[in-house]
Amino acid sequence: MTNFWQKLPKPFTVLAPMEGVTDFAFRETISRYLPRPDVLFTEFTNVDGLNSNGFEKTIKRFKFSKTQKPIIAQVWGTNPKNFFKSAKIIKDLGFDGIDINMGCPDREAVKTGGGAALIKNTKLVKEIINTTRNGAKNLPFSIKTRLGYDRIVTDEWIGFLLEQKIDAISIHLRTAGQKSLGLANWNELKKVVNLRNRISPNTIIIGNGDVKSYQEIIDKHNEFGADGVMIGRGIFSNSWIFDKQNNKHTPQEYKEILIKHLNLYDPSQNYDTLKKFFKMYINNFKGAKELRVKLMATKNVNEALDLLK
Ligand SMILES: Cc1cc2nc3c(=O)[nH]c(=O)nc-3n(C[C@H](O)[C@H](O)[C@H](O)COP(=O)(O)O)c2cc1C
Repeated sequence: MTNFWQKLPKPFTVLAPMEGVTDFAFRETISRYLPRPDVLFTEFTNVDGLNSNGFEKTIKRFKFSKTQKPIIAQVWGTNPKNFFKSAKIIKDLGFDGIDINMGCPDREAVKTGGGAALIKNTKLVKEIINTTRNGAKNLPFSIKTRLGYDRIVTDEWIGFLLEQKIDAISIHLRTAGQKSLGLANWNELKKVVNLRNRISPNTIIIGNGDVKSYQEIIDKHNEFGADGVMIGRGIFSNSWIFDKQNNKHTPQEYKEILIKHLNLYDPSQNYDTLKKFFKMYINNFKGAKELRVKLMATKNVNEALDLLK
């Protein structure tokens, strides 16, 4: 059966899931007011949170709009039963797919056996995949991972995932031990694509790591065979990174994007969490630094909007 992953253009583009960054307001801003990627992901959300007293708070992380589609809900955890229930919730909410994080190297995730620690526990991974599939029914199912835990084990680990006939696999081309250090091993992607061709030709392969421009997306596709390319931190220095034409923009256009984002601000959030976006949008133009310094000193949205008039 064909799913939406297979209908995407090649190479297609994906905005990486980023905790504290790819929330509702940012996804809405990028999908409405900037050149958008072909696919969006939520921040990662713990499956236990979706199945506990914290449900009301956790479910807010899954708010999305039609404009953001296709959008994938990303989850993490270790409890197969909670994956089953979370998959049902995600399907009912109308997401285009469910993704499991098997690559997060942060202590908080790894000490529970989740995130990248799953790379070392294929028995549990099999169980999680089965229960998630049962809960998600025919919803496209993907995994985001790395090349290994403390060393590169592409053949074993990615080979194992491919045997599970997953719809799409996103690979941050580093080991968990590397965190974000050194360079991403894009050469390994060629090996991944060969494995895919042999083991599971229908699985879509998405490469991720250090991509900083639209041209690089094309280059990674041509050189290494990625079906899609996922960009995370690259958006921090260039909000227009998904612009195929690489057009220049006026300072007013940069400011307008921030104004739109500020208007989407959810007052239940701590205002200071917005400040990372000042750095992102108010960038690359004369006077940007001075404006940014003033914005960083603001205490609420109205003060920031006054400065942007
Ligand atoms: C602030 C931040 C938050 C992140 N949160 C997540 C997350 O929630 N889920 C996930 O799978 N990866 C997460 N990542 C990893 C990114 O999705 C991506 O794999 C990584 O940044 C490498 O890609 P890049 O070089 O394009 O940034 C996060 C990265 C950053 C910088």
